[in-house]
Amino acid sequence: MLMCKTCFKAGSARSGVFACLMFVFCSSFLRFHNVAGFSFSVRMTQDLQTLKENYKAKNKTCFILGASGETGKVLLKELLQSQLFSRITLIGRRKLTFEDEAYTNVVQEVVDFEKLDDFASAFEGHDVGFCCLGTTKAKAGEEGFIRVDHDYVLKSAELAKAGGCSHFNLESSKGAEKTSNFLYLKVKGQVEADIEALDFVRYSIFRPAMLLVDRKESRPTEWMARKFLSPLSHLFPTAITIPINFVARAMINNAVIDVDNKVEILENKAIYNLGQLWENETK
Ligand SMILES: NC(=O)c1ccc[n+]([C@@H]2O[C@H](COP(=O)([O-])OP(=O)(O)OC[C@H]3O[C@@H](n4cnc5c(N)ncnc54)[C@H](OP(=O)(O)O)[C@@H]3O)[C@@H](O)[C@H]2O)c1
Repeated sequence: MLMCKTCFKAGSARSGVFACLMFVFCSSFLRFHNVAGFSFSVRMTQDLQTLKENYKAKNKTCFILGASGETGKVLLKELLQSQLFSRITLIGRRKLTFEDEAYTNVVQEVVDFEKLDDFASAFEGHDVGFCCLGTTKAKAGEEGFIRVDHDYVLKSAELAKAGGCSHFNLESSKGAEKTSNFLYLKVKGQVEADIEALDFVRYSIFRPAMLLVDRKESRPTEWMARKFLSPLSHLFPTAITIPINFVARAMINNAVIDVDNKVEILENKAIYNLGQLWENETK
């Protein structure tokens, strides 16, 4: 019995020492990795700032399709703040009004998407295009959804290419796949592929998951899903959701980075990581 107690005491002392050692090891490991991660992101942020300065000096121009929408709105705001482009043109079906002075020099082209060929000039003279256009089946019906998310987007891309655009950015969706059985994902995948065939000098496809945004328009299903998924998004921030400003920031950060690939697909996690770099920049 005495022996057992001694053994137990010796055992628990050994376990205690082992636990302490493990604790010290784990915390130094985590600390090293956090510090390494932090300094990596600081270095990336510094590199990014240099890239942005260089990009600015090129005096590029851009257009945004869908600037009245949730992503487009944030993208426009962030683009104005970054001053990356010497001119920003909004191409949309209606004129937007802005109260903030920062929007004074934004150019607006109002077009009829059913007769886009008649508005080819609106697409001329932009180096970069950002497309955040889209609707839903619930809002526009099946045909209407295909018309907007495929036909309008593709025609706009064609006119942009003809008008001299060299870098086209498409906000697509997580799971986009032209062979999908789901209409939404199929249409997104199809338009991705059709634009690729236009052979832009650079084509960036963004595939965000569910956008975390307080949407003005009422979309009950999306609202319910967001409420339900919100706690999960804290635990797994890139699994099924993404904050909307991360998408806009990722589009901007990505534009200034030189890449070797003509076509790049940024999945949700890549978008999140790129969008987050901006977060560090502003801290
Ligand atoms: N919601 C999500 O969780 C989610 C997730 C992944 C990907 N996406 C995709 O990301 C893109 C942007 O999404 P979002 O939620 O930011 O968009 P949004 O808020 O619904 O805005 C859509 C934009 O498209 C324009 N638009 C819609 N129907 C149109 C029509 N018939 N003719 C001309 N313009 C039209 C709207 O203009 P008006 O203001 O004039 O209507 C608006 O500027 C979409 O392609 C969407 O499918 C969304």
